[in-house]
Amino acid sequence: MKTFSFIIAAAGLGERIGGSPKQFRLLGGTPLWQWSSHVAEELLALGKIQEIILVVPSDSITRIKKTLSTLSEKTSFLVVAGGTTRSQSVRNGVAMASSDYVLIHDGARPFIDKELCITIMDHVNPNLGVIPVVPISDALKKIEIVEGEERVSSTSREHLYTTQTPQCFPRLQLLEALDTDKDLLFKDEAEAWIALGKKIVTIPGARHNMKITYQEDFILAHQIASNNREYRVGNGFDIHPLVPSRPLILGGVEIESPLGLDGHSDADVLAHAVMDALLGAAGLPDIGKLFPASDPQYKNISSLDLLSRVASLLKEGRWDILWVDVTLQAQLPRLGSFTKQMEENLGKRLFAFEMESEKINIKVKSGERIGAVGRAECMKCTAVATLSRWRR
Ligand code: CTP
Ligand code: MG
Repeated sequence: MKTFSFIIAAAGLGERIGGSPKQFRLLGGTPLWQWSSHVAEELLALGKIQEIILVVPSDSITRIKKTLSTLSEKTSFLVVAGGTTRSQSVRNGVAMASSDYVLIHDGARPFIDKELCITIMDHVNPNLGVIPVVPISDALKKIEIVEGEERVSSTSREHLYTTQTPQCFPRLQLLEALDTDKDLLFKDEAEAWIALGKKIVTIPGARHNMKITYQEDFILAHQIASNNREYRVGNGFDIHPLVPSRPLILGGVEIESPLGLDGHSDADVLAHAVMDALLGAAGLPDIGKLFPASDPQYKNISSLDLLSRVASLLKEGRWDILWVDVTLQAQLPRLGSFTKQMEENLGKRLFAFEMESEKINIKVKSGERIGAVGRAECMKCTAVATLSRWRR
């Protein structure tokens, strides 16, 4: 079986686009480099590749490792410092790889698809490199400045193609080829490979597998990305009886009260409704099925710990949480002053960044002394969650 390392080159300065390095800018809410790393993670999960190597600027290594540890519990990435040219960065990545073959991909190329990668991997062999190409479709002009004046001539586009990534090569031979690049100026791996007279095969790339180089490319990518998201809404409901001698825990906040909620776990009715709304939107089974009361491991368990598990399931499904709206129905005690703390508690379990707890909105309604809620026999909670993810 052929083994593969997937190397993402994301150590450039983005000088042509200007501003902060483009690979860390957000495209549809996700840093540009992560678009490629998500595809690499899928290939890893499918057993198609064996490792992922991310090449980043040396001063970003600590930050990226931290981000990766919060993003993905299952996948381990090797994070490597890049160099001053793309060729040097790729060389650093290839030097860390351990598989038979390497797939090299530009971190600035977000719309890579799994199928293209798999076709490329199928074609590679110990004596052959594989690159995706697309034919030039516009008419070509050569523009030179001669004695201060523009001189324009036409050039045939026959036989001309642009080269994309991922490009795939046998690892040791590519390393040898890259080592011949003394000035470290090769524009891509194929250039090093061809310079050594080695064989290469091309396969059709995809026009949407564009590289973001200039500001206009980012605008175009935003348009492609925004048409490519799916949205789902889920609702959740829960009810627990109020009884003496039980703690009252709502949204992870323990509140002083003569009555507490009864249940198998800590009976946090609010966290339960939120979990069911999130699971519902993701099309997953509800908490009763995922964390059954019949299972002793869930006895008195903190519902916030269960919420962390729900967050991991959403991450696995690549879902982003856009908004969670919650209505708690409770007669007593007065709870308005605790909602901010509840939002923060839930936010810590659901999001990577603290400020994102703003996406949770908790309201409390009294029972107006009507019915079981009004008589303080129980509390009820409903929640609505909106999720979204990139379609692949
Ligand atoms: N790259 C890299 N190390 C470098 C230069 C580039 O890993 N020293 C990566 C970039 O991060 C990008 C890919 O190679 O993902 C393609 O390069 P390019 O589009 O040229 O990106 P930049 O070099 O960042 O941009 P510019 O040339 O405009 O400065
Ligand atoms: Mg560059």
